[in-house]
Amino acid sequence: MTKLNITDTILRDAHQSQAATRMRIEDMLPALEKLDKLGYWSVECWGGATFDVCMRFLNEDPWERLRTIKKAMPNTKLQMLLRGQNILGYKHYADDVVDAFVKKSIENGIDVIRIFDALNDPRNMEQAMKACKKYGGICEAAMSYTISPVHNEDYFVELAKTLEKMGADVICIKDMANLLLPYDAYSLIKKLKEAVKCPIHLHTHNTTGTGDMTYLMAAQAGVDIVDTALSPFGNGTANPATEALVATLKGTERDTGLDLDALADVAAHFRSVADKMKADGTLDPKVLSVDTKTLIYQVPGGMLSNMLGQLKQAGKEDKYYDVLAEVPKVRKDFGYPPLVTPTSQIVGTQAVMNVIAGEPYKMVPKESKALLRGEYGTLPAPVNEDVRKKCIGDDSVITCRPADLIEPELEKYKAEAGDLAKCEEDVLSYALFPQVAAKFLEAKYGKKEEVKETPANDDNSVRTLIVQDLS
Ligand code: CO
Repeated sequence: MTKLNITDTILRDAHQSQAATRMRIEDMLPALEKLDKLGYWSVECWGGATFDVCMRFLNEDPWERLRTIKKAMPNTKLQMLLRGQNILGYKHYADDVVDAFVKKSIENGIDVIRIFDALNDPRNMEQAMKACKKYGGICEAAMSYTISPVHNEDYFVELAKTLEKMGADVICIKDMANLLLPYDAYSLIKKLKEAVKCPIHLHTHNTTGTGDMTYLMAAQAGVDIVDTALSPFGNGTANPATEALVATLKGTERDTGLDLDALADVAAHFRSVADKMKADGTLDPKVLSVDTKTLIYQVPGGMLSNMLGQLKQAGKEDKYYDVLAEVPKVRKDFGYPPLVTPTSQIVGTQAVMNVIAGEPYKMVPKESKALLRGEYGTLPAPVNEDVRKKCIGDDSVITCRPADLIEPELEKYKAEAGDLAKCEEDVLSYALFPQVAAKFLEAKYGKKEEVKETPANDDNSVRTLIVQDLS
């Protein structure tokens, strides 16, 4: 076995998980040059919720942020997270939009694109993977990890083989909810290493307190790359801390080759950013405590707090444990979707509604209906047909690749954006978040005064369900 490679998530998942994605480019800039010299396999810095938050809350052009980071970090591969056919939004886009977005991401500085789909439907990843290869990116295909009667080791091994055949350069196990326990990680990595030639990249969090142990066992099993976050934004709901793993492996056959003193120097900067965010309330220290509920209920921590929020709104907080008991039922009825954005919100909201209404599937949000109509892709297991009938009646169910039903739409967005867009990047910002981007671009090009915080709303209605983006 050789050195364990590290991806640091300090510029993306770390602050998305701990501080509502609010790290600004000014918070990053002073550390970028040093970050570039540390010797990471890659630094995750873009995609996920950062794109939306840049425009919606920070009055920052996400494309400009990417170019700025690239300029300061020419020696490190920059990585982004992309939700397959959903790109960075919450609905399926036409293939031409996916192609253009991937092209522009790579042109503006991205090297590695981690592509995933909430349902692990490879057809929803195909177009983004093709485009990534076509434009010279490193194509990392991710499997959304979950636990269910159908999500066993054989399932993930078969999926990894499929993704490798589709052209993946790297296979990622994306354990966004920190459900993958240490010994299961060991066993799964061993099996994957036997089944595919691609390097295996493991992504987990430390929400339930098992993340470090999972990485250690994965390292023992021969995992090639893992995701960690520099300590000021590491652990808790974020990824395990970089320094702890680096120190643990020092002098072993899996030595990461990273220098602890150099890491400490960069961490000092981000500690000051974290302190500032703690002072202004952006970073609530609560996110750092170990959440054992997830170990028991196998429901992501962020989803639990979303559901509790919805119950509070309805004045039914006392029904919390009823909702927890309802989640596995809904999940089974819906064919065991992994619980990641947006399916975590869809399943969670449906469970809350079943309990509030006092009768299952009496109230059915349109996202639940779309999921049951096959509009998000193929569900991992057969759905409960009685439930489907109750929710969507005689509506037809899609079995083709959902994006095959979408006509090319880039020109439509171009026309719609009109003068607001000065370049193709602007058109793409508009395509993903029409209302947010329109406001942002108006302000950017001087038509109106500075954009103030826009309430989460509009663009894609599932956005309104999302309090915490799980990725
Ligand atoms: Co994550």
